[in-house]
Amino acid sequence: MDIVPGILTKEYSVLHEQYTAVKQDVPWVHIDVIDNTLVIAGATVLLSDIPNSEFDAARVSVHLMVEKPILYLDECARLGVARMVVHYEAIRDDMEVVNAIKAAGMNVGVAINPGTTASYLEDLLPDVDSVLLMTVEPGKQGQQIMMDVLSKVQEIRVVTPDMIIGIDGGVKLENIELLSQYALDYVVVGSGLWLADDIGKQLQVFKEKLART
Ligand code: DX5
Ligand code: ZN
Repeated sequence: MDIVPGILTKEYSVLHEQYTAVKQDVPWVHIDVIDNTLVIAGATVLLSDIPNSEFDAARVSVHLMVEKPILYLDECARLGVARMVVHYEAIRDDMEVVNAIKAAGMNVGVAINPGTTASYLEDLLPDVDSVLLMTVEPGKQGQQIMMDVLSKVQEIRVVTPDMIIGIDGGVKLENIELLSQYALDYVVVGSGLWLADDIGKQLQVFKEKLART
C-alpha cells in the first residue's frame, strides 16, 4: 500500500514546497482541485500557475472536485499529469470526458463521495484505471475518517479484482495499520503529513509502520 501525499492549497509556493519535500520518496503525489461548484470550500491552486517543469519526480494524480473536469484537461496534459481523477457525482454516465482524458494519454480515476453507493460505478469500472473512495466529505483537510466507506473496497474488488483502489481523507499515523488490512493500493495523506514538524521523517514513520504490518 502506497502513501500518497495529498496537496490542498491555493498557493503555488506551498504546492512547490510540499511536492519538493516528498517527490523523491513516493511514487505518486495527489493534488486537490476544487471549483466551488461541485464542492464549495474555498480556492485551490490554479493549474495555470504551475510551470511546465514542476512535476519532475513522483507522478501526479490530480483530484478534480469539479463539475466540469474537461475544462482542466489541457492544463493537466501540459503539466505531464499521469492521472486525472474525476468525480462520479460530476460525470455520472458521461463517457465523453473519460474518453477525452484517455485520448490525451492520461489515466482516468473515478472518485466517489462517502454517500454514493459503489454500485453506481459498475458501468464505469472497465474504463478507468483506478477508484478513489472518499473517506471524508470532499473539501478540506483534517477531517475524521469515515471507516464505514471501507466496505466499498470489497464491492469493487468483486467486479474488478485488479482495480487500483485508494482512499482519501482522514488517514493518520494512528489508523494506518488498521487501514493496511483493507486490500487498498494507496492512501492519500494530507494533514497527517504536512502538520508534522519534519515531513520527511513523518513519511518515514508511515512507511515503517506499514512495513511492520
Ligand atoms: C478532501 C481532499 C483530500 C484531503 C485529505 O477534500 O480531497 O485529498 O486533502 O486531507 P487529510 O488527509 O487531512 O484528510
Ligand atoms: Zn483529494
